[in-house]
Amino acid sequence: MKRLGVNIDHVATLRNARGELHPDPILAAKFVKKVGADSITIHLREDKRHIKDLDAKQICLIKNLLVNLEISTNKDIVKTALKIKPNYICIVPENRKEITTEGGLNLERNKNNIKRIILKFKKKKIRTSLFINPSIKDVQLSKKLGVDCIEFHTGRLANLVKSKKSFSNEFLKIKRCSILADKLNLEVHAGHGLDYKTTEILSKINQIKEFNIGHFLIGESIFFGLSKVIKRFKKIIKN
Ligand code: PXP
Repeated sequence: MKRLGVNIDHVATLRNARGELHPDPILAAKFVKKVGADSITIHLREDKRHIKDLDAKQICLIKNLLVNLEISTNKDIVKTALKIKPNYICIVPENRKEITTEGGLNLERNKNNIKRIILKFKKKKIRTSLFINPSIKDVQLSKKLGVDCIEFHTGRLANLVKSKKSFSNEFLKIKRCSILADKLNLEVHAGHGLDYKTTEILSKINQIKEFNIGHFLIGESIFFGLSKVIKRFKKIIKN
């Protein structure tokens, strides 16, 4: 059974645009769960441009809600994450100037630090994941670093599909990496830039167990509402 994680960072972005309290990401977290999301994702960025420390803390206190907290390797962010104890963490690369996460982690360059961080979360029984590019080398290295799951950055595939270019090579790359990860006992997730079409394409890969979707899902909900959009995504990933 594939699961849907809903990234609600954009609710906080909208709230912050006015510097007031509405729309409330805490209510959004509860609501998306009520209408079918299997988990929620929030990214506590170093610049706190959307989710703030207090949001993350309060969201992690919501009962019966599985929270996936995306974090960089920044010491203070790691410290905060260990304190607020989400159910899951996903380590992502972060660059101050980027509009969104532009690619997977540079594992080779940061492997010692990442390994140490993974261990800290594993000690607290928090599920760990690494956001990586679909590369065989990075899957193998992820296994060596002792992580539970890997999430493939699907931005390249999404861009190819959206610009109506051939995406079969990228799809095969993700498929091969997913098969290898599964063999290595790493749970496979996918995320970034996904819409209905790209989610449907990737749903054909049996090894992908979780999709984490934000921007398109929240944007589409302006027209059709969170409930309808989440139900449509759930139907797509079930097929
Ligand atoms: N997964 C991870 C690890 C991410 O960093 C992001 C973007 O913040 C997403 C999924 C969701 O991407 P999008 O907002 O493009 O759906």
